[in-house]
Amino acid sequence: MTDQAHNGEKVAWTEQELAEIEEIASRYPSRRSAMLPVLWMAQHKFGWLSLPVLELVAETVGVPPSEARAVASFYTMLKKKPTGRYVLQVCHTLSCALNGAEEIIRHIESKYDFDENGNTPDGLFTLERVECLASCGSGPMMQVGEHYYERLTPEKVDEILAGFESGEPLPTPRPEADEWQWNLQS
Ligand code: FES
Repeated sequence: MTDQAHNGEKVAWTEQELAEIEEIASRYPSRRSAMLPVLWMAQHKFGWLSLPVLELVAETVGVPPSEARAVASFYTMLKKKPTGRYVLQVCHTLSCALNGAEEIIRHIESKYDFDENGNTPDGLFTLERVECLASCGSGPMMQVGEHYYERLTPEKVDEILAGFESGEPLPTPRPEADEWQWNLQS
C-alpha cells in the first residue's frame, strides 16, 4: 500500500473497507471495473482525491495511477481539490436562474469569506455553481451531500446554513425521493 500522506495522514484502507472493496470487486468481471465505486469510497473516507489517494485507489483496483487520475478528472462529483465539510452545490441553470438562483448564490457569498477555490477558511463550507440537478420544477435549489434543498429563499438558506454551523449532520438519503419510489411500487 502507498505510504504517502494525505492531509498529513498516511492513506490506507481499514480491514473492514478492504472487505467491502472485495465484495464490490466481486460484482464485476474485471477488478478494474470497480474503479468508480472505489473512488467514491475514497472520497467519502478522505474528503477529496489527492494524488496519494488516487494512487491508493489505482493500487487497489490494479491499474496504473495515471488511469485513476484520468477517470477522476472526468467526473465533477469527484473532488480533486480540498473541499469544506459541507459542499453547497447551487444550480444556476435556466429554470433555477429564472427563479432566483443568482440571488441565492449572492446571498451565500455575502455570508462567508470564500477563497478562490470556493472554500471558507474554517473548512466548513464549499460553494459551487453547478448545472441542472434535475429538480427544475422546484428551483432555486441546491444539493448538499445527497440531499436536495428546494424552493430556496434567503431566509430558508440562513436556516439551513445555521443548522450546518451548529454541526447538524447531512440528511441522507432524500426522504421525498424514497417516498416517490415507494409510491411507484405500491
Ligand atoms: S435548472 Fe436547476 S435543477 Fe434543473
